[in-house]
Parts: sequence; C-alpha cells; structure tokens
Amino acid sequence: MVDAFTHQPVLVAECVSSLRLREDALIVDATVGGGGHAAAILERTGPHGRLIGLDQDANAVAAAGERLARFGDRVQLFQHSFRHLETLLEEQGIEAVDGVLLDLGVSSHQLDTTERGFRFAAESADTTPLDMRMDQRSEVTAADLLRDASEEELRHWFRAYADLRGASRLARRIVSERRRAPLRSSADLLAVIESSRVGGGRRHHPATRVFQALRIALNDELGALEDGLEAAIGSLRAGGRVVVLAYHSAEDRIVKRRFRDEERGCTCPPEFPVCACGRSVRLRLLMRRPVRPEPDEVARNPRSRSARLRAAERLAEAA
Ligand SMILES: C[S@@+](CC[C@H](N)C(=O)[O-])C[C@H]1O[C@@H](n2cnc3c(N)ncnc32)[C@H](O)[C@@H]1O
Repeated sequence: MVDAFTHQPVLVAECVSSLRLREDALIVDATVGGGGHAAAILERTGPHGRLIGLDQDANAVAAAGERLARFGDRVQLFQHSFRHLETLLEEQGIEAVDGVLLDLGVSSHQLDTTERGFRFAAESADTTPLDMRMDQRSEVTAADLLRDASEEELRHWFRAYADLRGASRLARRIVSERRRAPLRSSADLLAVIESSRVGGGRRHHPATRVFQALRIALNDELGALEDGLEAAIGSLRAGGRVVVLAYHSAEDRIVKRRFRDEERGCTCPPEFPVCACGRSVRLRLLMRRPVRPEPDEVARNPRSRSARLRAAERLAEAA
C-alpha cells in the first residue's frame, strides 16, 4: 500500500469533454500522478477503451496502479518521461492514439512529501534535503545544482521562473555562501534567501518561488514540455486531441505559442515564392482563450487557482 495519495485533479470535467472520448478510445495520460484524471477517463470510456499512463515519478506510478487496479487490463502504466512518448508507443506497437492529456508540474502528493524537498516547510527545514527530483532514478539533486550552476544560470532561473526581485543579489549570495559550506538542506537555502532580502509577487513567500524555480530548472520542465508537445502532437491520429493543463505562465506561453504555430503551418516570410520550412497545418484550436477553474473549484482546491487548460485537435495530413 502506498502512502495516501492526496491530489485533487483539476478541471476534470473540462479535460474529459475536451478529449471528446469515444467508447473505445485509446488515451495517453502523460502525467498520470495519482490517477485522478485517468480514473475519470476510464469511467467514461467503454470496456474496450484503454489508457496508457506515464509518470516519471515511481511513487506516482505505484499510487496510480492501486487506484486504477479496478480497470484491469484496460490500463498500462509506465515510469517514463512524456518527452519520449513516441518511443514508448513504438515499443508497444501503437501507431496513433485518440488523445493525450498533459497535467503539468508537481502533484500535491509530491509537494506534501517533505523528504522529496519540493517545497520548504519551516518546521522540518533543517532535516529536509534539497532533492526535488521528479524522477528518483536521476542522479542530480537540487543540492548538486546549487553547487554547480553558474551565477548567471541561477540569476536567469530566479528571474524567468520565479519573477523574483533581487534575483541577481540572491544568485551572488548563493555563489559566495557555497564557497564557505555546501547548501544541503532547505534550512541552508532558506537562510540565504532571507539574508538576500528578495521579493516580488503578492501571493507567495519568496522562498516558495525560489524553490519552484529550482525545481523547474532541475527537472528541465520547460525543455520536457517542448519535447512532450511535439511527441503528443506526433502521436495523435487525425481527429485526436491534445489537452494541456499548465500552472506556470512560462509553461502556458510555450503551449499557446506551439498551438498557434501548429495552427498556422508554414512560417516562411510572405516574399518566399515556395515554402522552405516544410511545416504544415497540424492542429485546430478548440479554444482561443484558456479555460480557468470556476471560483467554487478554487475554493475547494486552492492549488487549482493558477490552472489554464488549452486543447487542440489533430488535422489530417494535407495530401
Ligand atoms: C499535476 S500532477 C498530475 C496529477 C494527475 N493528473 C492526477 O489526477 O493525479 C503532475 C505529474 O506529472 C509528472 N510529471 C512531470 N513531468 C513529467 C514528465 N516529463 N514525464 C512524465 N511525468 C511527468 C509529475 O511527476 C506529477 O506526478
């Protein structure tokens, strides 16, 4: 039995309706987590409907396995990154799927499991390691990143992923502190953050934002998203749908831009007599503006507050 997996899935009805599930649909839940969205998808498909669930976190795969056991062989789960979805499908002998769901970021279970180090918890900061690996098979932790990253890299992450005022000051301070002693625990990092007097953002403590920035950098979440979108779009049959839930503005920008480019096709300048980029129109957008949770969902599940859902349909290849 895995620890109780406490993650409330976000915008479930909207994800399910955007996927436009057929009775016998084959859907990939590329971020299966605790299996909340996956269960809703399997409940709404018939006895021949199947789901392939991926997560790079071994605990999530185990929790989803328990939660989805009642669906028997309609479910297959893999500890795998969605970056490599196409390879996985190829290995399984699957040419195309009817839908792909990407519910990005971390689960509440990951955030709330203190020893994973995804967020700082004042009461246990001294003993919480700076880990933050989503895939426990990876060898590099956040402590390693803080030891090895250049001052410029640190500054860039704190600016781009945390929108932090004082990003340069914090980056400089980390570099000088780590010369004296390595930063190993949440408390070590917290002390540097507090002494750097960083700020920005009304909703979250600066440490929450710094931890988030390090997590995004360590797990290369934006690079994985670029690759994952390509893999998801490439895996869809004509008429298949891709649905993405983003929680960070940098993620949502990537999704929005990618969908727009896929809707536009050729990106050659108008003066080119023939297309040189070779891009065709692959997607039709299902909505112009992202869907956001209603206030009652946010009241029930405050972590849904920043969610933005975008969805698109794969078009047939032009002849
Ligand atoms: C918001 S949670 C998903 C929750 C899930 N929809 C549910 O209903 O329980 C995001 C999950 O995506 C996983 N994840 C993040 N990046 C991933 C990647 N590149 N490949 C596979 N899984 C990833 C995380 O480990 C986490 O379990």
